Amino acid sequence: MTSGEREPLWREEFSIAKADERYVNRRQMAKFLTLASLGMFAGNVWILIRSRFRTPVYPRSGVAMVDEIPIGGVKLLQYPRAGEQCIMVRTGEDAYVAYSQKCTHLSCAVFYAREQNRLECPCHRGYFSIEDGSVLQGPPTRPLPKVVLERHGSELIAIRMEPEI
Ligand code: FES
Repeated sequence: MTSGEREPLWREEFSIAKADERYVNRRQMAKFLTLASLGMFAGNVWILIRSRFRTPVYPRSGVAMVDEIPIGGVKLLQYPRAGEQCIMVRTGEDAYVAYSQKCTHLSCAVFYAREQNRLECPCHRGYFSIEDGSVLQGPPTRPLPKVVLERHGSELIAIRMEPEI
């Protein structure tokens, strides 16, 4: 800019010299970090409160007829929502169990190994008890969520998940 030219109007309204524009002073930086930290803290508190006081509502859903599956047989179902894959096994004449099919390690699909009478995850050899879904072996640390079933006449009805998901 030559000496005869005037500064543009916008430059007069900003008091920062051009050479210093890219520098942020310590106070501005501390203010920014404090506000960002408070924002993240408030967000985490909100998530915690929502997760503590959320009461999941599970649908009552007819999932199978009593004689639909042979003893030792398997039926795949979706519960509590479409796309949430579960596996039901008939373990005895009048005994049925159902679990989420999603391995609690890294979400591979578990399958029923009839000879070992357990649920197995092929990804990292995680094994789960057919009795209660607890971990028998492998990297998973949490049991498979169980689908609680009720029998009404000749129909099996899924009523909720334990633990809640
Ligand atoms: S995903 Fe199932 S054991 Fe790793």
